[in-house]
Amino acid sequence: MIALPAHATPPDQIYTLNCWGCHQPHAQGIPGSVPRLANSMGCFLHLPEGRAYLAEVPGVASAPLSDDEIARVLNWMLLTFSRPQIPKDFIPYTAHEIHNYRRHKLVNVTATRRKLAAELMAMGLQVSDDGESASAGAPGSPPARPKP
Ligand code: HEC
Repeated sequence: MIALPAHATPPDQIYTLNCWGCHQPHAQGIPGSVPRLANSMGCFLHLPEGRAYLAEVPGVASAPLSDDEIARVLNWMLLTFSRPQIPKDFIPYTAHEIHNYRRHKLVNVTATRRKLAAELMAMGLQVSDDGESASAGAPGSPPARPKP
């Protein structure tokens, strides 16, 4: 165990303060705008690009949090909400790794997510629907996508 500085905010509190509003208490998301992370986000770790994606999405990369806080909240979320999907050889994110991912801006988040989802599907791993396809059956009511 690495000793944490005494002032470090526990990851569950980081989640409540910064992520909960969109991702919801059990990471179930908001149909039509925020994808479910529960029993889904761990799948992305099976691809190197997926591992990067989890740290590159705008809600993560632009959060007012340090690299260390992002690493800790992502590791906590993965183990709390998506443990069954995590690869057996999972190595937790480090602050250094997050630092490098965060500098890379995703140009098209939805397209990146769909490409990863298709590659994962081919490997037998199913991630949750993205907000846009979740609302595809509701004509005339475009999803109110929250601004990060
Ligand atoms: C304003 C709403 C909002 C906030 C706040 C937010 N997110 Fe998100 N998050 C989203 C949306 C919407 C997506 C889907 C990708 C996209 O369109 O940006 C997403 C995607 C993700 C993903 C990728 C998983 C997937 O299935 O696509 C992760 C990981 C994630 N968020 C983590 C976090 C963390 C950690 C925080 C807090 C530091 C956070 N988010 C805060 C809205 C939000």
